[in-house]
Amino acid sequence: MANLLQVQGLKAYYKTEMYGISRLVKAVDDVTMNLKKNEIYGIAGESSCGKTTLIKVLSGTIKNPLKVYEGSVNYQFKRGEKDILTVPNDELQRDIRWKEIAYVMQGSMSVLNPVRKVMKTFEDIIATHEGIKNRKEFNERIREHVKKLGLPPDVLKSYPHELSGGMRQRVAIALATVFHPSLIIADEPTTALDVVVQRGVLQLLKEIQSASHNTVMLVTHDMAVHANVADRVGIMYAGRLVEEAPADVIFRRPRHPYTQHLISSLPVIGDKTGKGSLDGTPPNLANPPEGCRFHPRCKEAMKICKTQVPAMLDMGEEHRAACHLLNNEAPEAKQ
Ligand SMILES: Nc1ncnc2c1ncn2[C@@H]1O[C@H](COP(=O)(O)OP(=O)(O)OP(=O)(O)O)[C@@H](O)[C@H]1O
Ligand SMILES: [Mg+2]
Repeated sequence: MANLLQVQGLKAYYKTEMYGISRLVKAVDDVTMNLKKNEIYGIAGESSCGKTTLIKVLSGTIKNPLKVYEGSVNYQFKRGEKDILTVPNDELQRDIRWKEIAYVMQGSMSVLNPVRKVMKTFEDIIATHEGIKNRKEFNERIREHVKKLGLPPDVLKSYPHELSGGMRQRVAIALATVFHPSLIIADEPTTALDVVVQRGVLQLLKEIQSASHNTVMLVTHDMAVHANVADRVGIMYAGRLVEEAPADVIFRRPRHPYTQHLISSLPVIGDKTGKGSLDGTPPNLANPPEGCRFHPRCKEAMKICKTQVPAMLDMGEEHRAACHLLNNEAPEAKQ
């Protein structure tokens, strides 16, 4: 399948100032990856490992103190190729945001204006892109769109606070898909929802993707969601991509000790053994450890892990992992 996006050596840091001392928080530090057309790509990893920062950059929503220091973010859009890092802001607003890339933000209620009825929010977004020529046709189009996504048209007459969390999240997804973008990025779309509601929201995302064949990037720390929804999964740890593979491959045979931990801590019905826990927390990204950033928490750490950053190794089956334990195993290392 052709690529929609190629990310090369991306470094995006927050520059912060505290008591006159400036620090760089290396939230995304040398990430190389691609997204294919027509796939659901899941990003996983513990809190503060850089998931949201990565998608801020991919969606072109970079604001102070976040700055890109290195790398490129190349899209193959319907209307041609673009490095989003070099696109001027007005072009981003006019031609790319919502139309090519829709970003359902973490705590997505932020896209809904609390003092405006849902229909008004649709109007606000659509009017800025194409204007509203015929009010009746416009209303009909929105009603149809909402209906097609299985939402009761009455939601359009509601204020956000009158809707349940699950319904608000569906509305946010409906807004994101109104222009049929090439890429929908959803950041923790189900985290605040209970399991049953969560299933409905994920089902909606899946249905939209399979009907319109666009690309969905789904960010969540919940590995069970990835197991159910994603075609491929990328694991982030402390600002780096440490493993990536098709979902069935990564769940069958995770290769990085961090991924192994994330997968083994998934609950299994009837299992009372108590899963091996992972000590400690992810490092402070203003001062991350040398070498492999996971080494202070890794039970299998070796001497080399403390000094050398592990290279991303190709393990076959579209599987990549960055761990020194694999140095002698990767097909490319054996040659
Ligand atoms: N505006 C900011 N200024 C300084 N540092 C920031 C800012 N926003 C995020 N960070 C830091 O960047 C790092 C990555 O944060 P990010 O929000 O990308 O993580 P995340 O993986 O999305 O976490 P979560 O699962 O909690 O949403 C963290 O160390 C965080 O403290
Ligand atoms: Mg986040």
